[in-house]
Amino acid sequence: MKRRNFIKNSVASASALGAFGLGSTMNLSADNKKERNILPIDKTNSDEDFWRWVRESYSVSDNIINLNNGGVSPQPSVVQDAQKKYNDFSNEAPSYYMWRILDAGREPLRENLADLAGCSAEEIAINRNSTEGLNTIIFGLNLKKGDEIVLNKYDYPNMMNAWRQREKRDGVKLVWVDMKFPMENKEEIAKLYIDKFTSKTKIVHITHVINWVGQVIPTKAIAREAHKRGIEVIVDGAHSFAQIDYKIPDLECDYFATSLHKWLCAPFGSGLMYIKKEKIKNIWALLSANEPDGDDIRKFESLGTRSFAKEMSIGSALSFHNTIGTERKQNRLRYLRNYWMEQVKDIKGVKLYNSFNPDFSCALANISFEGKDASELDNFLWNKYKIHTVGIKYEDVNGVRITPNVYTSTDDLDRLVKAIHAFSKS
Ligand SMILES: Cc1ncc(COP(=O)(O)O)c(C=O)c1O
Repeated sequence: MKRRNFIKNSVASASALGAFGLGSTMNLSADNKKERNILPIDKTNSDEDFWRWVRESYSVSDNIINLNNGGVSPQPSVVQDAQKKYNDFSNEAPSYYMWRILDAGREPLRENLADLAGCSAEEIAINRNSTEGLNTIIFGLNLKKGDEIVLNKYDYPNMMNAWRQREKRDGVKLVWVDMKFPMENKEEIAKLYIDKFTSKTKIVHITHVINWVGQVIPTKAIAREAHKRGIEVIVDGAHSFAQIDYKIPDLECDYFATSLHKWLCAPFGSGLMYIKKEKIKNIWALLSANEPDGDDIRKFESLGTRSFAKEMSIGSALSFHNTIGTERKQNRLRYLRNYWMEQVKDIKGVKLYNSFNPDFSCALANISFEGKDASELDNFLWNKYKIHTVGIKYEDVNGVRITPNVYTSTDDLDRLVKAIHAFSKS
């Protein structure tokens, strides 16, 4: 009971931190920035009591099971409350509350995000999402006809399209990596990229976690080889940030962007972009600023009038996330992923597109049945069990992506396992 109360109080205090009072988000103390150590991390993986409290911090439906957290995540109630509250303030006198009061939280928020990212606050811009961050980088780079870009045919469509636009408009040459899933050898994966490098390669674009299947790409190994050849490295961290336990500098990339509405569970339409300090001047601001080629990261925040209520509520999501801690969250997500995959892996005809090896996967997984279309399982799970997933048919992938989150219980996954067994007999 004692421990339960402690957990309850810890989670509640995280909630209170972000939600109540403008000052709580704008003046996070040094202590609040640190990840909490509520319980020994290795003991919480399977502690359903602990995770039940986490679930109670969300307002997710108890009637349908949402296993498409890869698309976008719900926000804990504390984040929803903060946004509502800040929005109410904003509507009292918008230019006063948004620009004079809420915006005063921008620099502390930048610092708190930088703490989680493991970099300087001078390298972080707050924006809407990965698409915006990566498009800013892709369109902001000085490149000329004939320059080569190495990218993967399993990168995210918005980014592949941005590169295709540069190909069409500026004549850069796109050199495509192909791969099979799952892959479990760091050197082999890195080689797929490195083999494409030539003396004309200027950029390698790496998706850290491939969204179609959940494959983790050994980004650092590729970045190291790229830098030896003077090639710059862009990382799409949409799915890895706040899901996998790492700091951005660990990836050794030059440019990085992520969506905070995915694994940080921040408001819908919130993101961050990282650019290594000395590279900021090389990227033109997409929406022009006073010094579009200057070296102040804030030039990327010249985004016009927008909801500061949403941006400032990122602070509450950060605080909630830090209460759980990235390592604990990553381990729980892997535990949940293994929990259901172990129970279906031996069903006849099942193919899993991702590995059990923690170096190559985390929460996201993708399952298919030989001879069946992804939509058949996707529809079966929804129609018969009210389990929401996403069927993916793209290139060589034809399966259903399953993505739990911190609020997912093993009871939810028991239902999933039961449903998959039923499908196999249907
Ligand atoms: C790998 C990857 N990159 C980028 C994005 C785009 O994210 P957003 O729509 O938040 O910009 C996604 C979205 O699912 C993704 O999976």
